[in-house]
Amino acid sequence: MESVAKRIERLRNEIHRHNWLYYVENRPEISDQAFDRLLKELERLEAQHPELITPDSPTQRVGGQPLAGFRAVEHTWPMLSIDNTYDRNELAAWYQRVLRGLKIQPSAGEGGLFDRGDGVDLVLEPKIDGVAVSLRYEDGQLVLAATRGDGRRGDDITTNARTIRAIPLRLMPDDGMPRLVEVRGEVYMTQEEFQRLNHQRIDQGLEPFANPRNATAGTLKQLDPRVVASRHLRFYAHGRGHLDPDPYRRHSEFLAAAKRWGLPVNPHTRQVSSLDEAWKYIEEFERYRAELGYLVDGVVVKVDRYDQQEQLGATSKAPRWCIAYKYAAEQATTRLRDVTWQVGKGGTLTPVAELEPVFVAGTTVKRASLHNVDEIRRKGVRIGDVVVIEKAGEIIPQVVRYVEDQRPRHTKAIEPPARCPSCGTPTVHLEDEVALRCVNPDCPAQLRERLIWFAGRDQMDIEGLGDKMVHQLADAGLLHSFGDIYALPQKRDRLLELERMGAKKADNLIRAIEESKSRGLARVLAGLGIRHVGTRTAAILAQHFGSIDALVEAGQEQIAQVDEIGPVTAESVYKFLHHESGRQVIRELREAGVKLTEPRQAKAPVKSPFAGKTIVLTGSLESFDRKTLTDRLESLGAKVTGSVSKNTDLVIVGESPGSKLDKAHELGIETWDEAQLLEALKKTS
Ligand code: IVH
Repeated sequence: MESVAKRIERLRNEIHRHNWLYYVENRPEISDQAFDRLLKELERLEAQHPELITPDSPTQRVGGQPLAGFRAVEHTWPMLSIDNTYDRNELAAWYQRVLRGLKIQPSAGEGGLFDRGDGVDLVLEPKIDGVAVSLRYEDGQLVLAATRGDGRRGDDITTNARTIRAIPLRLMPDDGMPRLVEVRGEVYMTQEEFQRLNHQRIDQGLEPFANPRNATAGTLKQLDPRVVASRHLRFYAHGRGHLDPDPYRRHSEFLAAAKRWGLPVNPHTRQVSSLDEAWKYIEEFERYRAELGYLVDGVVVKVDRYDQQEQLGATSKAPRWCIAYKYAAEQATTRLRDVTWQVGKGGTLTPVAELEPVFVAGTTVKRASLHNVDEIRRKGVRIGDVVVIEKAGEIIPQVVRYVEDQRPRHTKAIEPPARCPSCGTPTVHLEDEVALRCVNPDCPAQLRERLIWFAGRDQMDIEGLGDKMVHQLADAGLLHSFGDIYALPQKRDRLLELERMGAKKADNLIRAIEESKSRGLARVLAGLGIRHVGTRTAAILAQHFGSIDALVEAGQEQIAQVDEIGPVTAESVYKFLHHESGRQVIRELREAGVKLTEPRQAKAPVKSPFAGKTIVLTGSLESFDRKTLTDRLESLGAKVTGSVSKNTDLVIVGESPGSKLDKAHELGIETWDEAQLLEALKKTS
């Protein structure tokens, strides 16, 4: 018995050490296979002696059952965000503010701010495009992991964080390690893992993730820790939270200690003592970062000394002792071969640039967005042009401009199509809209998009029925209508004839379809793609009427009288339900056994500064992705729309806002920045 216990302990120490060598020291001594063998042996011994299992054993990373949801946790210290700049002069201006704040006389050096040391040590860290988390260790044991959330409260993701091998379950004892250690850092995904995951998802008929950050965020939100474990997330520590006791006087000192305890710290972290050195590093790192294997979108510059940090303090949004210098989005030039027009679920035609493939920011780009006809006109791009495209670490690459002095002799104007490329119906330009539309309700391309939408995660959530699968089924003649989805379970044989469709995949799809039948009326209404009806409106209608029959019986007036439903939405809903194609859809869903009722809940009236407001979002926000924020605002009674008009009450402006901001100024509409938004949201929770 004694010897088994000893062997187990030795194995655990070995495994911890190799983990540390791999993730912290970046110099593995054994192969992955050899590592797995150690782990297997430990698993075997623990299985024979379950009484010897401890929670910090490396075998205990993946917990048992999926969670029902995440618990909210309050951060002991708020998790602030950081100010960004893309500009060398702004970086210098920040440094000047730091000096002023510290009452340090700038000693006038030859090259101005950029060639002196002023007694302010700076720490430079790669800014990884991932998800910030806070880890709490008590007596060296990992007890809590939380996401940033809104900065004050986040989600308890401990079970998920435990599966990340770079996150130690216990810290290595070290003289003077505080009893309580809260460390903040970035969870991220390597580009290789991102590609692997996306290929797998496409194979399974799922939507691929847009970028590694979304993939990371999506993974951390998984309720099943086994899924998280399978995705190989990484972690680097980049700051402290609450420490007790707190003996450290500098950020660099804390990072060194964290590293001793076995927490990975980015090896490219540097301490410098002048802005000049900082700038040199930033410039050198821009080229170097491509070789890292993970996305770095800038360099975070931090004042090293904690006493100086405290002296500088923070604004409501971000500390003054820290700034992120962000690299400009990677650009490339290539040729615009052609423009195709994609038909959206509501009939909107979107121009897509078909490009000569070009490698940019880690992937080969063949297509890019041209947004709409106005954009094309504004940019003056023509088919055949050499164009500059840009990937802002974001979803779809954009066409920025054409290269004037490389315009070939024969270029072709980009003509907005007179007819829908899918069904040939003449296109229309609706008043008050930039978009061109196909108004044929039976347009097959629109139908496919509507089916994809219907099956989407926030609608009927039919896993496996993504973009690719809908196209495959439609091409095979198995999918022409909503009702056809529910006929698929009876067509298992036909499914099995499809390419890349095994029995397991077919059965999973069938199960997902069956499960979706019971989602209820709100989800169904949200999934139908009725204009002006999003998740929130669908929920209100479902709550109010309780069943599709009651909603169908209601007159347009009656619908318009429902709280928060305007006449435009009411008309759209009414028309949809009373048009032959809408009636047909309802009939099909009913026959398929899809639940078309909604249990009524007694509902507390929403009291919030957002109730009844029409809000538009522009630019990207530090604390939210668009979807999360939209959901949150809608749950507080707001209506979130895509474009600014005279009906807009408020525009929320993030980083690099688009033309919506100009429009808001033009119309004199109130605008808020992120700090104002966070303030107002605080009051609602
Ligand atoms: S420090 C108060 N350091 O960037 C300082 N953040 O734009 C808080 N990030 O939410 C953050 N690398 O998710 C810091 N070396 C680094 C970072 C880093 C990436 C992320 C982090 C933060 C966001 C702010």
